[in-house]
Amino acid sequence: EKGNHRHFMEKEIHEQPEVIGRTVSHYADAFENSVHEIAGLDFRSASRLIIVGCGTAAYAGEISRYWFGSLARLAVEVDIASEFRYRDPVFLPGDIALFISQSGETADTLEAMRLAAAAGVQTLALVNTPHSTIAREASLVVPTLAGPEIGVASTKAFTSQLSALACLAVLAGRHRGHLDRAQEAGHVVSLLASPGLMVKALEREGEIEALAQEIASHPTVLYLGRNQNFPLALEAALKLKEISYIHAEGYAAGELKHGPIALIEEGLPVIVIAPHDALFDKTRSSIQQVASRGAHVIAITDPEGARALEGEAASIITLPKGSQLTNPLLFASAVQLLAYHVAVYKGTDVDQPRNLAKSVTVE
Ligand code: M6R
Repeated sequence: EKGNHRHFMEKEIHEQPEVIGRTVSHYADAFENSVHEIAGLDFRSASRLIIVGCGTAAYAGEISRYWFGSLARLAVEVDIASEFRYRDPVFLPGDIALFISQSGETADTLEAMRLAAAAGVQTLALVNTPHSTIAREASLVVPTLAGPEIGVASTKAFTSQLSALACLAVLAGRHRGHLDRAQEAGHVVSLLASPGLMVKALEREGEIEALAQEIASHPTVLYLGRNQNFPLALEAALKLKEISYIHAEGYAAGELKHGPIALIEEGLPVIVIAPHDALFDKTRSSIQQVASRGAHVIAITDPEGARALEGEAASIITLPKGSQLTNPLLFASAVQLLAYHVAVYKGTDVDQPRNLAKSVTVE
């Protein structure tokens, strides 16, 4: 039931602090500030992690690639299932393959998993539906604990996937000797703090709603991000397209000069995911480049970033300061709210957008 909410999507966005708390508590020990071992999962001898999914699930995989790389020095290959299964993928000794799916019934993801299993690769399923086909057929299930997701646009399943992936990356870091005790504890403490920070992020809803009204009248919107914020920009664009039917594109900020900057014209909304992280100055220079060409820049940032961008971005949404692992969770909630409120202004069918099904069981 929707309770006080107008749509399931709105309800599911607001459930996220609880959902990510539940998922992190499943994988991490809040007394030891460590992640639990998972029987049958050993990253020590892994030579590579292959991650496959569709849509939002694939974007969660893309974000985690940065974590497995920097926390565990584990090479990650991410692909969308419909491409992976038909490109005659190369499997190597020591590969582990992870399949991400909310429904556990997505046809392409299931077939990609069957391909990996036939090649003798260990198959992990990161699924939200415990009795689904993908869960049944995988060698090992790593659950997300989002609860049933009704809105066609994935929200809480995505952040639940990110929470679980963050814990798996910490586990891989420990297994592979790249995180010491204190570093592991630091990551776990930040993940345990994420529900509280997300509550604060969701409090920005009023400001986001005001910006949404303005965006609703534009035919095109660009999203920019760097590093782990790049796949989040892709997810943000997908969310807006799905429910508001506005054409949206996500780009890596560093790609601007390789083409997309030609699109910038007076008033074009450019939404930049800009936490004050190690690459903030580079993101800031992208903001300057598009703003000087007339774009209406909406920066989603944190308090330190907001101070730096004062006068440079036309609009600023300030979220609480997160960490490498928690920023995508917080920033996801802001871009979800933005897409949601644009769709509400446009009067679309938010929970059942045209042409889309919740579960894509045929290719
Ligand atoms: O059930 P799955 O996670 O396998 O679904 C994958 C995609 O179909 C899904 O994420 C889709 O992109 C959503 N509508 C995104 O909001």
